[in-house]
Amino acid sequence: MNDDDEIEEFKQFEQLIQGLIDRGYGCCDDFLLPKTMAGLRANMERLNALGKLKQAGVGNKMVFHEDNLVRSDKMNWIEQDSANTHEKVYLSKIWRFIHYLNNTCFASIKNFESHYASYGVGNFYKRHIDQFKTEKGRKYSVVLYLNQDWKQDDGGMLALYPKMAEQVNILPIEGRMVFFRSDEMEHEVKPSATRERKSIAGWLKN
Ligand code: OGA
Ligand code: MN
Repeated sequence: MNDDDEIEEFKQFEQLIQGLIDRGYGCCDDFLLPKTMAGLRANMERLNALGKLKQAGVGNKMVFHEDNLVRSDKMNWIEQDSANTHEKVYLSKIWRFIHYLNNTCFASIKNFESHYASYGVGNFYKRHIDQFKTEKGRKYSVVLYLNQDWKQDDGGMLALYPKMAEQVNILPIEGRMVFFRSDEMEHEVKPSATRERKSIAGWLKN
């Protein structure tokens, strides 16, 4: 990476962290280049064609909570040692972000997990937090969107419910990254209305 790219990257990291400090969530656009986003979308198409996108679970693998369907997306984990070029680009940027966070905020993040998520038309994820009652390792959530030309009418908004502020709706457009605390920020994926909604959800763990 040349100096200019590194400076741009630090600006994005600062924007994500400053947003989290100021209002409970950070958001930045163009987190990865369009060619990487296209590569990641192609990976998802391939996984889908191979039948490898599986019904997602909640907490201890339960999709139903008190007889209520909590989520209806399909997912596939990204391996840390992936040999796929586009996944490697994604993983190495997240690791640089983790180092930045550890160095500037004493975050002590040691690990990271992420998966592709596909929300077909009508699919959703009801209001929740990302930390399980039984497993407290998830500290920060990072969600990256892969959707070209996503419009308001396509639905699939990420709704954030900050404790001390009004609900915020975020459009899941290509290259957009959202960052929040896994144990605190309640959030929801509104039903996708017209087309498949693709994202990569990740969790920084200690
Ligand atoms: C999740 C999640 C948000 C999104 O996978 O836990 O909340 O916008 N995803 O895809
Ligand atoms: Mn979530």
